[in-house]
Amino acid sequence: MYLLGILLTTLGLLHLTTAATFTNPLRARDGSDPHIVHHDGYYYLMTTTWTDLRLTRAKTLEGLKTGETKVVWMDNNAARCCNVWAPELHKLDNTWYIYYTAGNRQNLDNQRSHVVRGGAHPWNNPFSYAGQLTPEWGIDGTILTIAGKNYFIYSCLPRPQWQSLCIAAMTSPTSIGGWKLLSEPSLAWEKVGSPVNEGATALYNGTRVWVGYSASYCWTDSYQLGLLAYKGTGDPMDRNNWVKGQQPVFSSSEGNYGTGHNAFFTSPDGKETWNVYHATTVSTGNCDGNRYTAAKKVEWRADGTPDLGRAERTGTRLVGPSGE
Ligand SMILES: *[C@@H]1O[C@H](CO)[C@@H](O)[C@H](O)[C@H]1NC(C)=O
Repeated sequence: MYLLGILLTTLGLLHLTTAATFTNPLRARDGSDPHIVHHDGYYYLMTTTWTDLRLTRAKTLEGLKTGETKVVWMDNNAARCCNVWAPELHKLDNTWYIYYTAGNRQNLDNQRSHVVRGGAHPWNNPFSYAGQLTPEWGIDGTILTIAGKNYFIYSCLPRPQWQSLCIAAMTSPTSIGGWKLLSEPSLAWEKVGSPVNEGATALYNGTRVWVGYSASYCWTDSYQLGLLAYKGTGDPMDRNNWVKGQQPVFSSSEGNYGTGHNAFFTSPDGKETWNVYHATTVSTGNCDGNRYTAAKKVEWRADGTPDLGRAERTGTRLVGPSGE
């Protein structure tokens, strides 16, 4: 019995030590606007650097803290050299692309969405400039795919000082057609400090589709996530085919302020959905490089809708994504 006890205890410890764990933050500084994709054994993390496009990769979330990093794009063109924000790595037609926002050195009035094209592998092939997607002010672009058709969702200014979400059908991975309004800040929690909808990101489960987005001004602790639910049929470019959740779904908690600009990614085994977001320790919010990157597993309610829960205090040891 005694030996059996030792044996079981040893097995228990072995089990505990093989479950991958991690702590937030994954990136303590310059962790704004995070985006993660898991592909072929690696997580690929991108965040806003303001100057270039940089990929970090590792086999575990914890490993991203010290993962190998390389600059994959930097531009001398004065119209898109600077204020480089919100990069996202996406695979379309078996080719990897990075969609990002950039503008000039002088101000933020000329921010546009751009794309660089890579190759069949996100790490092994170089990226080169492939085009500007938005003719007008447009930031935080992301890809939404419904029924095999790709759409570009980005934050737009259909009227001054009223940052909204626009949607356009993609005519190729590097170009879009005309835009339509998908969502505008209409509820009180979307208008704190300034009316803002930005940082959209698609969430899929089976046949169901949502778009997460960030609402309110980033220099407040009310910068937080909202959710649009696709009704399941009809043109995704028609906003009547979407339902906006009346309440925010992920807000400041446990010393994490301005929890927002997230992306969803899938665990290595494909069984879990994860939320990667940024936050700040500054209780009045933050829009600069002080924001850190953090991740949390998405839970699902009995009715099949996502439950993003609440951000845990940084430093809390969490179980990593399944399949690590
Ligand atoms: C999809 O939703 C179901 C609940 O409806 C959940 O059990 C499952 O884990 C979700 N899939 C992913 C990949 O998150």
